[in-house]
Amino acid sequence: MRPLNSIIQEVISEAPEVRTFRLDRNLDPAPGQYVMVWIRGVDEVPMSFSGPDTITVQSVGVATQALFQFSAGDSLGLRGPLGNGFILRGKNILLIGGGVGTAPLAFLGEQARSQGLEVASLLGFRSRDDLIFETRFEALGDTYITTDDGSVGIHGRVAEGLKGLNLSEYDQIYICGPEMMMWDIISKTREHAGKTQACINRYFKCAAGICGSCCLDPDGVRVCVEGPVIMADRLLESEFGRYRRGPSGGKGLCKG
Ligand SMILES: Cc1cc2nc3c(=O)[nH]c(=O)nc-3n(C[C@H](O)[C@H](O)[C@H](O)COP(=O)(O)OP(=O)(O)OC[C@H]3O[C@@H](n4cnc5c(N)ncnc54)[C@H](O)[C@@H]3O)c2cc1C
Ligand code: FES
Repeated sequence: MRPLNSIIQEVISEAPEVRTFRLDRNLDPAPGQYVMVWIRGVDEVPMSFSGPDTITVQSVGVATQALFQFSAGDSLGLRGPLGNGFILRGKNILLIGGGVGTAPLAFLGEQARSQGLEVASLLGFRSRDDLIFETRFEALGDTYITTDDGSVGIHGRVAEGLKGLNLSEYDQIYICGPEMMMWDIISKTREHAGKTQACINRYFKCAAGICGSCCLDPDGVRVCVEGPVIMADRLLESEFGRYRRGPSGGKGLCKG
């Protein structure tokens, strides 16, 4: 798939380290799918869609910092939409997100509401300053917020918010966020893993199922094509939450 050129229409500051880029192309993505964003002369990196024509980016390193220098009128290369998306099931769903991982869930929740589903959300952030998409989620239904420092909502990690919820009430659970946050939730709610769809993150190079960079041990699931949305019961027996491979293929412990 050749990259398409796209002109940035608008840049929205969501939080000090998070910006949304509205593009001039609607690639008709499903929530959970991603796009490879080519920042010319720098790198090509995977980003989830936060809406039909938007990506929401956290500045963490070389490519994302370069993207933060871009403004309306600048151009990017796009390859996508890629991978599988979330599948809406049942009538009553719960979204569980952490940080910028809330981006594809906001998109999913809006699609679910437009189809008449009941949507509740549990969202975790480091602090008040990091909160994003609060109004988007509140427009969908009950929204529970946790912050690590207690500046908004429940004081503690996202799993603290589980204590007030009865997960049996939900037909399907959707989760996206930092790996250790997702692992914390998935490992504490094992009995619901068969109805939990997780949008996960690995080091992507080709994003075409060829290079093997993103494969999960032990069964070699290629996250770039068979994911990034994977049922949580499959993750329970995998490397997820334990280690991940970096750019050179070496194993490193999961962080964050
Ligand atoms: C399917 C998927 C969807 C994603 N969606 C979003 C999103 O919506 N918003 C967002 O802010 N981030 C998202 N990411 C993460 C984003 O791709 C990385 O933050 C980005 O690639 C970092 O590049 P960098 O050069 O700025 O940072 P670097 O300095 O290169 O690295 C910072 C971190 O990003 C990881 N990373 C670097 N390059 C890649 C790569 N090619 N593939 C995967 N991880 C990489 C590194 O392992 C490291 O942990 C997603 C990743 C995947 C796999
Ligand atoms: S990134 Fe190459 S196989 Fe997935």
